[in-house]
Amino acid sequence: MRISVFGVGYVGAVSSACLVSLGHEVVAVDVSAAKLELIDQGKSPIVEDQLEALIAQGVADQRLRTTQDAVAAIAATEISFVSVGTPSGPDGSVAMGAVVHVLEQIGRAMSGKSAPHAIVMRSTVPPGTAETLAIPTLERTSGRRHGEGFRYYSNPEFLREGTAVKDFYAPPLTLIGASEGDDAAIPRQIYQGVPSAFHVVPYRVAEGAKYLANVYHAVKLAFANEAGAILAAHGVDARDSFRMFCEDRILNISPAYLRPGFAFGGSCLPKDVRSFLALARDGGVAAPFLGAVLPSNEANIARVADMIMRHGRRPVALFGLAFKSGTDDLRESPYVLLAERLIGKGFELRIFDRSVQLARLIGTNRAYIEREIPHIERLMAATPQAALERSEIVVVGHVGGEDRASLPALLPGRIVLDLAGISELRDLPGVEYQGICW
Ligand SMILES: NC(=O)c1ccc[n+]([C@@H]2O[C@H](COP(=O)([O-])OP(=O)(O)OC[C@H]3O[C@@H](n4cnc5c(N)ncnc54)[C@H](O)[C@@H]3O)[C@@H](O)[C@H]2O)c1
Repeated sequence: MRISVFGVGYVGAVSSACLVSLGHEVVAVDVSAAKLELIDQGKSPIVEDQLEALIAQGVADQRLRTTQDAVAAIAATEISFVSVGTPSGPDGSVAMGAVVHVLEQIGRAMSGKSAPHAIVMRSTVPPGTAETLAIPTLERTSGRRHGEGFRYYSNPEFLREGTAVKDFYAPPLTLIGASEGDDAAIPRQIYQGVPSAFHVVPYRVAEGAKYLANVYHAVKLAFANEAGAILAAHGVDARDSFRMFCEDRILNISPAYLRPGFAFGGSCLPKDVRSFLALARDGGVAAPFLGAVLPSNEANIARVADMIMRHGRRPVALFGLAFKSGTDDLRESPYVLLAERLIGKGFELRIFDRSVQLARLIGTNRAYIEREIPHIERLMAATPQAALERSEIVVVGHVGGEDRASLPALLPGRIVLDLAGISELRDLPGVEYQGICW
């Protein structure tokens, strides 16, 4: 395929050379004449292992060339990669100037070309860019409609500087954001020689996943560094503890605990975070990152309370009271905290949780309930129907298997706030459905 690459910095230079090595022809475009000159001489514009040899080979084979003329680059190619910088603006938000400039150049150049063209966004851009900025900019400047003469793909880059060439041939995944109904045949063809899993998702999902990746890497590093310093202050070789921590591939290095939703709680997590923070204080280690964990969890509860309050002070039924499903453990349950917030705001509230109900009946945690949350006990309903009786808003935290099947039929006429991502609750006739983060 013939591909123009706009922006030959760390990402674009690697893409250009590697695309050529996959068998494509590449025209590199940059505002920096110096970078293009280096490429013309078979040299790399950046320091990166293996890159210079690939560039030299591409140039020698006349399959990698450069131009500063965007119109000529578009005319000579059928696909354009956009890999210009998206640095931080003064307020921390992303500066999209270079991206917009390149998209306008591509759009204008496409208006003078009859053949179809595809644009592949490799720069890291905020969720919503494809639909609210990139495609409208291309449509405005080209005079064409998306899908009629041009196609736009979001294709986040996951390479790491230093091992970028290796990462290009073996990325963790190839991720394509595409419009509905587009099977991404063009990107599939581009990456034919790359063996990684290939995922086609809506634009915003792809754009969002790239942010998640980098933010999560930063979170992992901040966690490791801060927790490591706290352990070291207590005589632990933190590298050894981290090695053992990483041995757990079921709960630690795994998708576990990475499903976004409602706040955490229970008898261990909040307690042990607090206790670890106390160790930080004892050891004289600043722990601003871990110190933000419990406030972040509290903000989650406040957010859900706000979502409920936005509908006015209507009667609420809350499904789930224990800190998670399948247990009667109410210690530090975020549902208890949510219930208390609603009660404090004067909401009429009924609560159903079959596990808690059962434990209450057989007396296992009756003492705890009576001592710690008597004000909540009064609100517990014996059946889902009883909880729903006067409710206008239904907050579904968790429901056990035996109630899951019967719940949807009871919901019409109500607002449902789903904190658990229960698929049966979606698209119910007569139900105003709202997900916590979907
Ligand atoms: N560096 C990485 O490891 C990495 C990894 C994944 C994603 N990304 C993302 O990829 C994008 C590019 O990052 P980078 O590190 O390669 O940036 P960079 O600053 O090294 O390169 C950007 C290039 O774009 C050029 N440019 C700017 N405006 C232009 C224009 N109008 N026309 C043509 N060229 C233009 C610049 O001269 C420069 O050569 C960013 O969005 C970044 O967040 C970077």
